[in-house]
Amino acid sequence: MLKIEVCIGSACYVKGSNQVVADLSQMIRDEGWEDKISLTGSFCMKACQNKTGLGIRINGELIPGITMQNAKEALKAAITERLA
Ligand code: FES
Repeated sequence: MLKIEVCIGSACYVKGSNQVVADLSQMIRDEGWEDKISLTGSFCMKACQNKTGLGIRINGELIPGITMQNAKEALKAAITERLA
């Protein structure tokens, strides 16, 4: 089971983290990953301060470089790799 946390802190919220949550939820349904992935919100995980993109962790590992623009593609790749 992969645990995905998306930051819902204010800096990430204004950069579209709520849209990323919606997109991820849709992707999980579309791919039939409901029993393989848990998706939760998180408070600030300092990605904003370190300017590494949106705050997103998979199994506790911060995934750098995620933006609202690349989120769907980049996260799908990151998830697929970890589910393999
Ligand atoms: S507000 Fe999201 S990492 Fe800081």
